[in-house]
Amino acid sequence: MQLEHMIYMDHAATTPTDARVADAMEPWVREQYGNPSTLYTIGGYAARAIEEARATIAEFLGAQPDEIFFTSGGTESDNWALKGAADAHRKRGRHLITTTIEHHAVIDTMEFLEKRGYEVTRVPVDSRGIVDPDDVRKALRDDTILVSVMHANNEVGSIQPIAEISELVKDSDALFHTDAVQSVGKIPVDVNQLGVNLLSLSGHKIYGPKGVGALFIRKRTRITPLLHGGGQERRRRAGTQNVPGIIGLAKAIELAAESRESEAERERALVERMWTGLQERIPDMALNGPEDPSLRLPGMINFRVEGIEGEAMILCLDMNRVGVSSGSACTTGSLDPSHVLLAMGIPAELAHGSLRISLGRDNTETDVDYFVDVFAPVVKRLRDMSPVYDK
Ligand SMILES: Cc1ncc(COP(=O)(O)O)c(C=O)c1O
Repeated sequence: MQLEHMIYMDHAATTPTDARVADAMEPWVREQYGNPSTLYTIGGYAARAIEEARATIAEFLGAQPDEIFFTSGGTESDNWALKGAADAHRKRGRHLITTTIEHHAVIDTMEFLEKRGYEVTRVPVDSRGIVDPDDVRKALRDDTILVSVMHANNEVGSIQPIAEISELVKDSDALFHTDAVQSVGKIPVDVNQLGVNLLSLSGHKIYGPKGVGALFIRKRTRITPLLHGGGQERRRRAGTQNVPGIIGLAKAIELAAESRESEAERERALVERMWTGLQERIPDMALNGPEDPSLRLPGMINFRVEGIEGEAMILCLDMNRVGVSSGSACTTGSLDPSHVLLAMGIPAELAHGSLRISLGRDNTETDVDYFVDVFAPVVKRLRDMSPVYDK
């Protein structure tokens, strides 16, 4: 394995753990093994450390510490928000609203709820991958109990008008959830500016550890627990807390808060450099997602290359020690075209020939130039062999 030489450009799938995060976690892995629920000294150390971590995360989100609940990651936070809200409010209504471009943690949970008797409306997106708030307004009904719209999309990086949508949802009795797994640490995320009742985040997308995340639950928001057992997390999420993970998550948040703005600017410039370089060298390519960079996550770009398959491009790039994705990591390996690209109206064959590049803190201009240099001949070679590309 030669990972140290790899040029990693798939930060939307996961990020390398920041060394400062690993250092912060180490004592809680090696020495501080106390159970935070116990009454003696070492348990108290762990309990205090968790509360400090909770306060750090709350401050970052503009929330109160007792509105932050630790989970095992984005998937659990999404499952809890949706199933918990649906169950707690089922007597009032059974209608849920979501979009066609959510992560599978939301899509599959919505399908699960549909099988349990809930009705789900999925609002469409435009060709840039952005929801029209008016479509959400039209979908709202008296029996709507929950609206879930992701903050930023994990495949094309499109940023949704969450604050505008929350203004509309506020006029109804529905709760509003956003999956902010991809946006936290990259663009401003403030629960009050966004106006949400529930917000999911995850550690491993922000240079923190895997298997830890959080759900923001606004005060007085009723949701049923997902996990039952001990009385942890104020009796709302049972299970001994992942102490090292929580410490690492808080450190990752702290680091993100320090560098978010300058890093966003740097990554935006790198993406611009890459896209300009690619367009100069490769014909018949187009951007998937908003043209306007301010409507897209800073380090993310998704584009389609006519006449070739995403999987072939990924394998050729891997041989050149570059790691990228053709869709979300969870769906890579299946040959179905991306549901996000299809929802944006991109034909299946072009969706198949799409790549997602997501840059991060460790990428440099040299990496970007290397990518353009190796990718242009890869495309030429694959197109020469392609039975469908004859330009
Ligand atoms: C938008 C979005 N939501 C949820 C998840 C799931 O998060 P986790 O991997 O922490 O379970 C991901 C991860 O790919 C994601 O991109």
